[in-house]
Amino acid sequence: MPQPRLGHENLGLGVGLRAPHFSYILEHWPRVDWFEIISENYIDSQGRPRYVLDQVAERYPVVMHGVSLSIGSTDPLDFEYLAKLKSLAQAIGARWISDHVCWTGVSGQNTHDLLPIPYNDETLQHVAGRVRQVQDYLERPLILEDPSSYVTFASSTMSEWEFLTALTEETGCGLLLDVNNVYVSAVNHDFDPVEYIENLPWESIVQFHLAGHTNMGDYCIDTHDGHVIDPVWKLYRLAHERTGGVSTLLEWDANIPDFPTLHAEVLKAKRFIEGETIVADEPADQGHTPVPHPAHRIEHEVS
Ligand SMILES: [Fe+2]
Repeated sequence: MPQPRLGHENLGLGVGLRAPHFSYILEHWPRVDWFEIISENYIDSQGRPRYVLDQVAERYPVVMHGVSLSIGSTDPLDFEYLAKLKSLAQAIGARWISDHVCWTGVSGQNTHDLLPIPYNDETLQHVAGRVRQVQDYLERPLILEDPSSYVTFASSTMSEWEFLTALTEETGCGLLLDVNNVYVSAVNHDFDPVEYIENLPWESIVQFHLAGHTNMGDYCIDTHDGHVIDPVWKLYRLAHERTGGVSTLLEWDANIPDFPTLHAEVLKAKRFIEGETIVADEPADQGHTPVPHPAHRIEHEVS
């Protein structure tokens, strides 16, 4: 089986750390393999969210996932934002930092949306140059996620998977493969999601995302508001086989269920990983044995 060349370990099956679950987590320390945070929810916070994050980071591996990098924009990179990312990553021992292949605005205006880019040589060189700058500053590989999209560009000259492959070759960046995004975009743009996954550089994939979406009939919206559907699980199994298995994360951001329901959803992944157990067999929420790791050395106070 191919192994991730970037040296990122398989953390197992994780979930997004979300505020409605803070109290449950602090009380039960559930047997989750790892957590992913939305970086923007913590980089400017010194209150309860940061207190909870510090508690979590002392007990579980944590990965940072951002939505503000805007790697595809023509605006200058925001080094103040990057400094905050770097500082938080150091403080909590983040295993890696990810964002999306997208742009969020231009001329200083933020749309608060993850907008797609044309896939051609000009945008490839533009994005690759910015990825190199970010990686040099963060002193680690950047991990970039495939977007869910609702439009394509007449100026695109390559497929999304060809663009992502070229980007990894140009920069050495890693990929966060959102399997649900592949499914959503495949429906919206009428491409074969299996062809997409089969043609990715599997050795560059360090993480998967899974999520639910809303099927509107002739198109899909990436709503993160429900269960993962079977066709997405089947794509996940294919991606798992091709990569040899990488860290898997369930996103659920609207109509958020209680924590055991959330956790049970990601544990379904075990059914789709043939012949391999990558999480403990104990019931989901019998309590997590705290295992501090060396990155955690800062004692924080509630502020
Ligand atoms: Fe995602």
